[in-house]
Amino acid sequence: MSILVTGGAGYIGSHTVVELLEKNEDLVIVDNFVNSKPEALDRIKKITGKDFEFYEVDILDEEKLEKVFIENNIESVIHFAGLKAVGESVEKPIEYYHNNITGTLVLLKLMKKYYCKKIVFSSSATVYGDPEIVPITEDCKTGGTTNPYGTSKLFIERILQDTSVADSEVSVALLRYFNPIGAHSSGLIGEDPNDIPNNLMPYITGVASGKLEILSVFGNDYPTKDGTGVRDYIHVVDLAKGHLKALDKIRKEAGVQIYNLGTGNGYSVLDLVETFEKVNNIEVKRKIAPRRPGDIAVCYADPTKAKKELGWTAEKGIEDMCKDAWNFIITNK
Ligand code: NAD
Ligand code: UFG
Repeated sequence: MSILVTGGAGYIGSHTVVELLEKNEDLVIVDNFVNSKPEALDRIKKITGKDFEFYEVDILDEEKLEKVFIENNIESVIHFAGLKAVGESVEKPIEYYHNNITGTLVLLKLMKKYYCKKIVFSSSATVYGDPEIVPITEDCKTGGTTNPYGTSKLFIERILQDTSVADSEVSVALLRYFNPIGAHSSGLIGEDPNDIPNNLMPYITGVASGKLEILSVFGNDYPTKDGTGVRDYIHVVDLAKGHLKALDKIRKEAGVQIYNLGTGNGYSVLDLVETFEKVNNIEVKRKIAPRRPGDIAVCYADPTKAKKELGWTAEKGIEDMCKDAWNFIITNK
């Protein structure tokens, strides 16, 4: 019996695969490398000394994906594959909805056909829109997403909930990630965007390494302690471990389980930049720029439910996140 990991060569997928292999799980990975490189898979093998099945498949390609189900006994799925650039999703809504939603529908159709009833899905804190309260609990209202990427996550959550209503044996974990950053301590896998990064940490490392000129701090007039946006940054290895706990849970229980995966701490843009500079002893040139459209002021999790029901808590702090993010860059120069 194997776990199918879609998007397993990507940033969060590769870290989760490492944790799963270290627990001796049998894995089948599919990825089309639209936003990752085959090298990540070699590096996973190097870190763990373990092997897995791999198929270079676009999950939109039903025929090829079906072959994966025919050739393997898939017990459960961890579904990372998706496009994730918020700005790009505004310019290319059809591509984003097609890849993320149709891709998930193809996967669910095959899961049904091959009696695979367990799925862990990569959702996002973005489904809360501009949160009504912080820290955000899983009971907070969802909706009010401001871009097709976020809306695709909201729709997929709904599709998975409906799937569970239709079949009481189906078990689903919707994991709402906050802001994953950092990298594996080996420095062999991490976040490696090809284009100009959208997210804060890859932009910081880009400036620190001289690839990018200067960091724009988007707004210093938010109602926060220093005026810059506050987020719940979580170490990607902690996030990866949350998937194993969620899988344990859905292996035992049918229905839909929803968890926030965050630390419960909010840090501002300046907190993150200054911590990065301090722990790595390197300067990050920055300037204050206008607010970025669609950004919210403050977003951080109440992670109590995951602690209570999964026995999961994030262990690494913001200093580890900053050190490991930089270690990945200098290891791969
Ligand atoms: P990533 O881009 O590094 O990984 C996604 C992987 O999926 C890539 O390897 C990509 O090549 C693959 N992929 C995309 N479309 C595919 C398709 N049609 N067929 C096969 N493979 C496909 O992104 P990530 O940061 O690792 O994110 C993983 C998941 O978590 C995504 O669904 C993302 O939306 C979600 N998420 C990410 C964040 C974040 O800040 N990184 C936050 C919340 C949710
Ligand atoms: N920021 C800057 N300069 C930059 C990039 C970001 O000041 O160059 C600021 C933003 O304004 C925000 C904070 O840094 O205040 C974090 O921004 P990110 O783009 O890193 O992250 P977001 O919180 O905007 O969004 C991320 C993912 C989404 C996901 C969301 C919640 O990009 O996909 O977290 O999980 F939905």
